[in-house]
Amino acid sequence: MTPSTLVPIALGERSYDIHIGRGLLGQASAWAGLARPSSVMVVSNPVVAPLHAERLHAALAQAFDLGPARIRQVLLPDGEAHKDWNSLNLVFDALLGNGCDRRTLVVALGGGVVGDMAGFAAACFMRGVPFVQVPTTLLAQVDSSVGGKTAVNHPLGKNMIGAFYQPQRVLADLDTLATLPAREIAAGLAEVIKYGPIADAAFFGWLETHVEALAALEPAPLAQAVKRSCEIKAQVVGADEREGGLRAILNFGHTFGHAIEAGLGYGEWLHGEAVGCGMVMAARLSQRLGQLDAADADRIEALVARARLPVRGPALGADRYLELMRLDKKADAGEIRFVLLQGLGRAVVMPAPDDAVREVLQALS
Ligand code: NAD
Ligand code: GLY
Repeated sequence: MTPSTLVPIALGERSYDIHIGRGLLGQASAWAGLARPSSVMVVSNPVVAPLHAERLHAALAQAFDLGPARIRQVLLPDGEAHKDWNSLNLVFDALLGNGCDRRTLVVALGGGVVGDMAGFAAACFMRGVPFVQVPTTLLAQVDSSVGGKTAVNHPLGKNMIGAFYQPQRVLADLDTLATLPAREIAAGLAEVIKYGPIADAAFFGWLETHVEALAALEPAPLAQAVKRSCEIKAQVVGADEREGGLRAILNFGHTFGHAIEAGLGYGEWLHGEAVGCGMVMAARLSQRLGQLDAADADRIEALVARARLPVRGPALGADRYLELMRLDKKADAGEIRFVLLQGLGRAVVMPAPDDAVREVLQALS
């Protein structure tokens, strides 16, 4: 058994560890130290469950000495377009229909869509039940499973209805990524790349050397990238759990990206694809405002392109982008607040003149 790497998230009584390793899904020992639940509800979807649920169920049964009747599963329809109230209700139906109680452990097995919805359901059911994230996409392993943001989408805005609710553990089994389509790996790379410009210029340089190896899921660079991404996220979330300030830097590329996702209809572009393009837009806006050198903006655009992510946005029109971005959660009294770069490795959150934003959008979409 390969030992897993632990990345701690320091949040006082809500502290937990991210376990990163190979084969974790099938290991009963991965659950050691958690309180024995009365039952388990695995939340997954029809794509992930046939690939990975069996080993998870066996490990849970062994770890907690629970029979099959105490380990239930609910499958939600796959995809961003189904990250909504209807899917959320399926979780509540399953929890109530199976007699679950306050000691039921909710386990999210899947990507960010399943994780965000299972987490929100765990936050709401009986006002909060124990919750563990078992992320199976690169994006979920480096970002969405960590830090306690849970949500569903509203037709008028992404992730608009949600709660902060921390998991008790994150089990990131790198082996599960082997079944991911290449497009999904690229989408995950967007959130990996994000950590360089906002917090770690050296990591950005390392990614420039290793991006193709990561796309090919080469074991050593992959483990390194997941670990470093989680460390940076842990540091930011540990300093600002509920996004009073600093945490907003994790949304680099997301203001533009969320507008792309909402403007095209959820699921048209993958979240990571929209973030990849959004990072290029945010870098060019930083350059336009004199905060970032052209050479650094070029490096960001080149790395995003090498990760096989889009670097030009859909032609929604600048007015529509601006309208959608005014719905962003960072907006303050209708004023859009962008995550901009003051050099590689340093992000700030600030407004930008509409004219400058329009110029960037006209050049890049
Ligand atoms: P996703 O959950 O839709 O997963 C992508 C696709 O891959 C889906 O079709 C899924 O069924 C499939 N899949 C998952 N694991 C697989 C595997 N191992 N093998 C084969 N197929 C697999 O998308 P995602 O990119 O993981 O997550 C995107 C979501 O995460 C968005 O809704 C975004 O808003 C959210 N997000 C949340 C946070 C947060 O902090 N909570 C951060 C970033 C993103
Ligand atoms: N992905 C943004 C955050 O966790 O804050």
